[in-house]
This record gives sequence, C-alpha cells and structure tokens, in this order.
Amino acid sequence: MSGATPSASDSVWVPKASEIAREAGARLREFFAQGVETEYKGDVDLVTVADRTVEKLIRGRLGEVFPEHGIYGEEGTRERMEGAFRWYVDPLDGTTNFAHGFPQFCVSLGLEKRTDGQKADEDGTLVAGVIYDPMRDELFTAERGRGAVLNGKPLHVSGTQELAEALVATGFPSRKRHASPNIHFYQEFTMRSHGVRRAGSAALDLAYVAAGRMEAFWEFNLNPWDTAAGILLVEEAGGRVTDFSGNHYRLDSREILATNGLIHDEMLGLFGEMFAGRGLTPIPTAQEYAAHRAARGETVDRAK
Ligand code: IPD
Ligand code: CA
Ligand code: CA
Repeated sequence: MSGATPSASDSVWVPKASEIAREAGARLREFFAQGVETEYKGDVDLVTVADRTVEKLIRGRLGEVFPEHGIYGEEGTRERMEGAFRWYVDPLDGTTNFAHGFPQFCVSLGLEKRTDGQKADEDGTLVAGVIYDPMRDELFTAERGRGAVLNGKPLHVSGTQELAEALVATGFPSRKRHASPNIHFYQEFTMRSHGVRRAGSAALDLAYVAAGRMEAFWEFNLNPWDTAAGILLVEEAGGRVTDFSGNHYRLDSREILATNGLIHDEMLGLFGEMFAGRGLTPIPTAQEYAAHRAARGETVDRAK
C-alpha cells in the first residue's frame, strides 16, 4: 500500500472505529458465552448468527458515524462502493475458533482512502486500522503516519534478526484446503524457526506481528477484510508487508507475508526455493524417528 499523511481532522477515524469495534466485541462476548449454532457456508466453512448480527451492527454504526463511507464486509455488505473511503469489515475473524469455544477471535476494521477515477481493482491507501480482541480486551489501532498502539501504548515490531530465532505464524483456508500447498511451508518453517503458530485468526496474527509477539505471518488466499487493518498495523509498527515474491502488497494479492522487516528477505528466499522445488527438508518415517530416539537413549522411565 502506498503512503499518505493524514490531516489533523482524520484522527476521528480511529476513535470512532474503536468505539464501534468495542461494541461489536461486547456482542461477540455475549454470543460466545451463550453458545451459538453453527451453519456451513460451504463444505467446511462455518458461519454463525454472531457473524451476521455483528456485521449488521457494524454496518449500522459506521453508516451513522461516517455516512459517506463505503463498506465491504465479509458477510455480504456492499455499500457506497464508489465512495472516497471504504471500510473493510470482518465482524468475526476466527469463526471456527468461536464456534468451537476456543477464545481466539476478533473484530477487524480497516479503512482505505481512494482517489477520484481510481479503477475498481486498484488499491487506494490504507489510512486507519482497528483490531479488537474481546476476550483479552486488547484494542490494536493504527493510523497512517501516526504509528500503531495497543490499548494506548505504542507498538513496535521485534528486533529479531534471524528466522532461526523467530516465532512465526500462518493459517489455512477452510475452503479448498486440498489445493493449498501451505502444509509444506508449515513443515519447512517449523524446522527452521522457534515454531509456527496456527491460532486461527489472521487479523490477530497480523496484530501480534505488529506487537512484536511474533516475527512473521504468512498465508495463502486471504481476503481484504482479513488483512486491511492488520497490514497498516504492521507497517506503522515498523514492519514490512509484501506478497510471496516481495512485490508491493495489494488488497487483492491474496498471498501475504508480513514480518518485522528484518527476517523478510530470508523468508522470501525460502519461499523462492520452495516454489522452485528446492531445499525441502525430508522427514523421517515413524520407525526411523523411533530408531533415532532409541539411539539417543530417550526412553520414558515411569519408575523415576
Ligand atoms: C479465517 C481466519 C483464519 C484464516 C482463514 C480465514 P474467518 O477468517 O482468519 O485464521 O486461516 O483463512 O478465512 O473465516 O474466521 O473470518
Ligand atoms: Ca476472516
Ligand atoms: Ca469472518
């Protein structure tokens, strides 16, 4: 995304969107406590009444506060798409977690500023982002040129220089899982880092990179409502966001690599090698693994 400095009056975006995200998050907490029925959007893609109700709530509130702004929501909202501003809304990022009672999910609101005459498939500039985790009461916000904060405290990406010392994260699509190559990347990065987390909310993963809790996040096949707010958070916290070839990230790029900046080139290099079919670490069979373990004397003695 390209840079642009906001004017002083722009600072209303984050405070207003934060109020809306907090209200939406409170509603999600209520649904989570009472339990909700799950429906299927496809064969394994889940949706709940919470997703729809909270998108409706956000659509209404954004419409009251920013009547000129467009809205592009995961659950189908398409409003004022010709406007100079557009909110990308994920009312519940982490639906599968939510539906299983696993408390890792959030509300994500990202604001794009568009210019006159811009084609529908061209990106504007991301100018504000709000991600709210209602279970931890953590509000991550960013405004272009003004930095990123968590509950009012400035955020910065981590200073870790090497993948070998990094904690990283990824996610898997619920749809078309069989067509995704990501399991190979999951394996490879697990071998070469402190570990790969797969916590189930792409927006929170991005917020955690911004907060320096993890060094990197990548995923295949995301949508703008998953990424818009988190991209700005990472960039404003000093990190870097590209596609897997190192190109400028576009909201419809689908493939995202977001890092602390310091391990970005190393990860891009590994992506390149893997796409070329080189550098894959072979995995041992269960028998070979057991033989290595036995050779190292790693036995479980339950008498001790
Ligand atoms: C999903 C989550 C998940 C990611 C999936 C997304 P949803 O969003 O962000 O972490 O791996 O690709 O679709 O469906 O829970 O809003
Ligand atoms: Ca999502
Ligand atoms: Ca969602």
